[in-house]
Amino acid sequence: MINMIWAMDENNLVGIGDRIPWHIKEDLLYYKSKTKGQIVLMGDTTYYSLKGYYKEKPLPYGKIYVATIDKNLVIEGCHMVYDIISFLNDLDKDIDLWVVGGATIYKLSLPYANRLYISFVKGKYEGDRYFPKIDYSNYNLIWENDTDKVRYTLFERK
Ligand SMILES: NC(=O)c1ccc[n+]([C@@H]2O[C@H](COP(=O)([O-])OP(=O)(O)OC[C@H]3O[C@@H](n4cnc5c(N)ncnc54)[C@H](OP(=O)(O)O)[C@@H]3O)[C@@H](O)[C@H]2O)c1
Repeated sequence: MINMIWAMDENNLVGIGDRIPWHIKEDLLYYKSKTKGQIVLMGDTTYYSLKGYYKEKPLPYGKIYVATIDKNLVIEGCHMVYDIISFLNDLDKDIDLWVVGGATIYKLSLPYANRLYISFVKGKYEGDRYFPKIDYSNYNLIWENDTDKVRYTLFERK
């Protein structure tokens, strides 16, 4: 099962440089509650950005796959993915993978994802990394929870 989890604003914005454009604590806690101890896949930009926050502390995941096209890049403690398409095609169906960003990795993974955990952030922010357009007719809305700042949703592929 391939899960994707992300937050985006009303323009599908997900990032500015290597950062998230907003600071919404409740969404951060939601993200952490879903991904803690899980098997995750992220791009190298997102990995280094997270390392900037966690510094010497280990990232709170069970197993980390880091995607990069730089075949010389090896990150200690992580499993490197040099070809994300082959990786997703060959992934064992019993594995519960969480794709956690960023923009490039979301775009490449979307066709393979079974479940989308989307946090719709209310408002429009400044930034330069966007999620691609989603055809929601391919998905069923399974769950939602609307709050002041964010609408939390789970979509499942039909
Ligand atoms: N809003 C959210 O929920 C959320 C969550 C996570 C991240 N973000 C944001 O997303 C932004 C980062 O996104 P990004 O697109 O710049 O970087 P990214 O998705 O984290 O990483 C992109 C990397 O993927 C690698 N790549 C490209 N094609 C590949 C392939 N076919 N196989 C394997 N690896 C491949 C490239 O490696 P090379 O470097 O070798 O070219 C590239 O650097 C930041 O602003 C971050 O804050 C937002």
